[in-house]
Amino acid sequence: MKKILIANWKANPSTLHEAAELARKIELAASAHRNVEVVVAPPFPYLATVASVLKRAKLGSQDAFWEDAGPYTGEVSWRQLKSLKVGHVIVGHSERRIFLGETDEMINQKIRALLEHGLAPVLCVGERERIEREMSEAVAHQIGAALAGVKKNLIKNLMIAYEPVWAISTMPGSRPDTPGNAFQANVYIRKIVSGLFGRITGERVRIIYGGSVNAQNVSSFLTDAHMQGALVGSASLDAENFACILKAASTC
Ligand code: PGA
Repeated sequence: MKKILIANWKANPSTLHEAAELARKIELAASAHRNVEVVVAPPFPYLATVASVLKRAKLGSQDAFWEDAGPYTGEVSWRQLKSLKVGHVIVGHSERRIFLGETDEMINQKIRALLEHGLAPVLCVGERERIEREMSEAVAHQIGAALAGVKKNLIKNLMIAYEPVWAISTMPGSRPDTPGNAFQANVYIRKIVSGLFGRITGERVRIIYGGSVNAQNVSSFLTDAHMQGALVGSASLDAENFACILKAASTC
């Protein structure tokens, strides 16, 4: 299976014009490295414009509401996103959990709705504090809660992004993870998923890495930590930087 790079733009850039330019450049890079799957997840107001620019790269979103439509002021539903041809949806990002009060129950509803309607959720999990040696129980808890009641046959459309909060570039005092820790997390997450859905599902679930990924470290996360892709935040806002990450990933 191809490696995947997901560009998580968060609440950037600040104008539609810049968003279109950035998407155009990322599209060029994606066409030059076809052995890597590229997904661009812009803020909601830019989705339609970014969609019109992307051909090789695919459209993603940073969140989705679980109902299809109705009286939910400010929300964007999975059905609306689907009608814009969004495929991948980031769910449960730590910034939403920490700054916007997103709960495990909300994340679970989102994951279930997305999987049941043929979208591909990218479930973000990760501990807030770095713990030496032992993997954090918080990660097991997040996975268990997010996947409660999910049908086993739908797990193939889910991806899990291990994003230790302490390694996210914009978190105060953050520091990059090591491939060793990321590998340990990879093994741990597979074990958790195996416990919930059986060994085969645990072996097959796609696990990607996020947290200060750049052109220098992406290869070690993909190769040494056996991650199947990366969720890229800050470095995806600079097209040249993102193109270098893509180039490095294409040789892994
Ligand atoms: P970062 O963000 O690459 O800027 O660390 C990753 C993320 O939060 O998804």
